[in-house]
Amino acid sequence: MKILVTGGLGFIGSHTVVALQHKGYDVVVIDNLSNSSLKVLEGITNISSKSPDFEKLDLRDKLSLKEFFVKHQDIAGVIHFAASKAVGESVKNPLLYYENNIAALTYLLQNLVNLPKQNIIFSSSCTVYGEAERFPISEDAPIKKAMSPYGNTKQIGEEIITDTCKANGKLKAISLRYFNPIGAHPSAEIGELPMGTPQNLVPFITQTAIGKREQLSVFGNDYPTADGTCIRDYIHVMDLAEAHVVALERLLSSKAEDSYEVFNVGTGVGSSVLEVIEAFESASEENLNYKIVDRRPGDVIAAYAETSKANDVLGWKAKRNLEQALNDAWEWEKRQHKL
Ligand code: WQD
Repeated sequence: MKILVTGGLGFIGSHTVVALQHKGYDVVVIDNLSNSSLKVLEGITNISSKSPDFEKLDLRDKLSLKEFFVKHQDIAGVIHFAASKAVGESVKNPLLYYENNIAALTYLLQNLVNLPKQNIIFSSSCTVYGEAERFPISEDAPIKKAMSPYGNTKQIGEEIITDTCKANGKLKAISLRYFNPIGAHPSAEIGELPMGTPQNLVPFITQTAIGKREQLSVFGNDYPTADGTCIRDYIHVMDLAEAHVVALERLLSSKAEDSYEVFNVGTGVGSSVLEVIEAFESASEENLNYKIVDRRPGDVIAAYAETSKANDVLGWKAKRNLEQALNDAWEWEKRQHKL
């Protein structure tokens, strides 16, 4: 069965391609390589001994996209990762985000609704909850006004898909609201490849430990939490990848009760920044050079998932813990450094 993975050479996309191949699916990847490289295709092939079909394609190119779907009418499902995802960049350049995350999704759906099989998994985010009031955060928590254009594109993306499912009887969709994906494939063949200075905590930690960065800045320790630093739900990227396969199979097997469903994908465990640093130091046996600085605008105090819906309805539960994810992230960083 053929599955299309857009943005399949990205961090979560590449790990999901491996998980799909592991389950015997034929995968076709489209990626515009704006935030990835063909080396990732090599890594995927080294792991699964099977190279996915790949087409360099930008979803904003309506004509090429239409030609692609004419060639691939036998696609049984789509997992849609291709999008821009840097919160800070989205504030500086909102139109790039609205074009790349919204217009492109619209073009993808316009083609999908003409296929014989119409199933899509949408990459959403806990960002849609903003600063939650109740913890852990469940799927029916209020959707807050987005704190960035990036977060807004995730909220709008979910609404576009909801409306399209309502209008097109055949289209079935699941949105997965990720918490904080970290780590790498245990083979260290693929992992997170931040372009330039990492915005996210864990790649900055591993680059500091390897000596690529001078010092980690901890953005504030005056939050109303036990140790004053923000709390997040850090989920191993392989657990997240496997959640995509389970969600896709729910659509392919027509087990989904509604045409549109939403699931949180997290571990349900909240960890503070200082706890992540401590866990990394014990996993890597490296002392991390960090300092406390001012808060980063836009950060929420805490975000960690209520996972019972994914556990009970989707039949998926995270299997790996924070230490394993940090260890795999460190092995990946060391592999990059050797190269
Ligand atoms: C985590 C914590 C920072 C860097 C990210 C993505 C967002 C979404 C969810 C996909 C925060 C602190 C960070 C640093 C630090 N992903 N930190 N020093 O902001 O929760 O959101 O995951 O949809 O797109 O941005 O993750 O890793 O940036 O920050 O102290 O150098 O680490 O303040 O408390 P975040 P993050």
